[in-house]
Amino acid sequence: MVKKEINNELEYIEKVRKINEGKNLKYYILTMGCQLNENDSEKISGMIEQMGYTLSDDIMDSDLVIYNTCCVRENAEEKLFGKLGEVKKLKEARGTIIAIGGCMMQEKHIVDKIKKSYKYDIIFGTHTLHNFPKDLYNAIIENKKITDILDIDGEIIEGLPIKRNDSIRASVTIMNGCNNFCTYCIVPYVRGRERSRDPEDIIQEVKSLAEQGYKEITLLGQNVNSYMRVEREKGICNTKINSFAKLLRAVNEIEGIEKIRFISPHPKDFTDDVIEAIRDCSKVSKFIHLPLQSGNTRVLKAMNRVYTKDEYLKLVDKMKNMIPEIKFSTDIIVGFPGETDEEFEDTLDVVNKVKFEQIFMFIYSRRLGTPADKMEEQVPENIKHIRFDKLKNLYEELVVENNKEYINTIQKILVEGYSKTNANLLTGRTDTNKVVVFEGKSDLIGKIEDVEIISEHKWYLKGKLI
Ligand code: 5AD
Ligand code: SF4
Repeated sequence: MVKKEINNELEYIEKVRKINEGKNLKYYILTMGCQLNENDSEKISGMIEQMGYTLSDDIMDSDLVIYNTCCVRENAEEKLFGKLGEVKKLKEARGTIIAIGGCMMQEKHIVDKIKKSYKYDIIFGTHTLHNFPKDLYNAIIENKKITDILDIDGEIIEGLPIKRNDSIRASVTIMNGCNNFCTYCIVPYVRGRERSRDPEDIIQEVKSLAEQGYKEITLLGQNVNSYMRVEREKGICNTKINSFAKLLRAVNEIEGIEKIRFISPHPKDFTDDVIEAIRDCSKVSKFIHLPLQSGNTRVLKAMNRVYTKDEYLKLVDKMKNMIPEIKFSTDIIVGFPGETDEEFEDTLDVVNKVKFEQIFMFIYSRRLGTPADKMEEQVPENIKHIRFDKLKNLYEELVVENNKEYINTIQKILVEGYSKTNANLLTGRTDTNKVVVFEGKSDLIGKIEDVEIISEHKWYLKGKLI
C-alpha cells in the first residue's frame, strides 16, 4: 500500500491560521458530483476551518470560495464556467480567493480554458488535496496564481482533519481510483489507478465515528468490491483483511455502528465471498447498488462492462436466492454510441425483471479522451431524450408498484429530523432509501424506530410509529 501520514503539509495550516488571526474570515464551498467528492470536500473543509475560516452559505459574503468539481457528465462543466463568470465581480470587490479543485482539474483542456478566460487563485487536482494549506499559503503570501496538479497517482494520505456534514451518517473512503476503463467513463483518467486504504486505518476511522455517535457508515470507492485486489495481485498486501468481504465482516464487528452501506460496486466483482458477507453481516444493508449501465449484451461489450445481460440477471437471481430480502438500485446510461431502439428495449426488459427500487438515469455524455467519444455512431440528442423519457416513465410506474409492497409492513427507520415540507412530521428513510414521514417527538431524531407503512405517495411513504 502506498500510504503517507500527513505531517509537513499540516505545518502550513498553522502558518495560514496565524495570518488569518482575528480577521473573522468566511469560506464557501460548492461540491459537484458523487459522494467521493463530498467526502473530499469534508476533508478540504476540515483543513480550511483549522486555518481560521468559518463556513458561509452566502457566496457573496465569503473570503475564500472553493469549487470541488466533477467531470463525469458535460453539464457539470457548463455549471462551473457559469459559476466562475459570477464570482469575477466578488473577486474584484472583496479580493476573495478562488480555488478550483477536483476531477475536472485533471483535464488539461479545462485547466487551459480556466487559465485563459477566468479569474482564479488556486487550481488543485484529485491527487493534491493535502497540499491545499500550502497552496493557500503561497497564494496569500506571494499573491500569485498556483496550479498544483499531479498526473501520476497520488499516495493515500492519512490523518487529514475532516469536518463532517452530518452527525448520524458518515462516509469513509476505502479505495481511490478505478482500473475498469468503461469506455464512456472519464473517472480512470482523472482519479488514477485503483489503490486501497490500509484496513487498519479504515477500521480506526469507523471506530472513532462510532465513538462520536455515528450510526450509519457508507464505504466509498469507485469499485469497492475490488478492494485490495490490485494489492493482492501485486503481492503487496500484508494484512489479514485482504478483500472486500473480509473488510465488511470486520466493520460489522464495530460496536455502535448500526448500518453499513457501500457504493459503488461492480457486478463483475460480486464474488460469492462478498455475497456471503452481505448475507451474514447483520448490519450490512441488504439494499445493494448494482450498476447495470445497459441491458444489452452488445452494448455492454462496447462499454467494456465485462458481463452480459444474462450474466447480470443470473447474478441478481443468485443474490436473491442467497439473500431473499435483497433489493437493488442501479445506474443506467441511455444513448450510448451505436445503441439501437431494439438494444434499448433490452435495458427496459432488465428493469422490468429486476424491479429496481431506485434508478439513477443518465443520458450518455461524450467525454473527451474516452474511447466511446471516438465511436462513430453517436446517438442523436432527440433520440437519447425519447429513450430517457421512456425509461423514466417505466421507472415511475415501478416506484408505485414497489411502494405498494411496503404498505402494512414494519420498516426500521433511521429518524433524520423534521420533514422540510411539513414541520409537524418526522422524516427518515427505509433501508431502501425511500422517504417515510410520520408523527413523532424530536427525541427520536438519530434513533432507529419501527414504523408501520400506511400509504404510498410515489416519492414518499406515510407511516405510523409502532
Ligand atoms: N455519460 C453518462 N453517464 C455517465 N456515467 C459515467 N460516465 C458517463 C457518461 N459519459 C454514469 C454511469 C456511472 C455514474 C456514476 O455516472 O452510470 O455509474
Ligand atoms: Fe467509471 Fe466504470 Fe470505473 Fe465506474 S467502474 S468509475 S463507470 S470506469
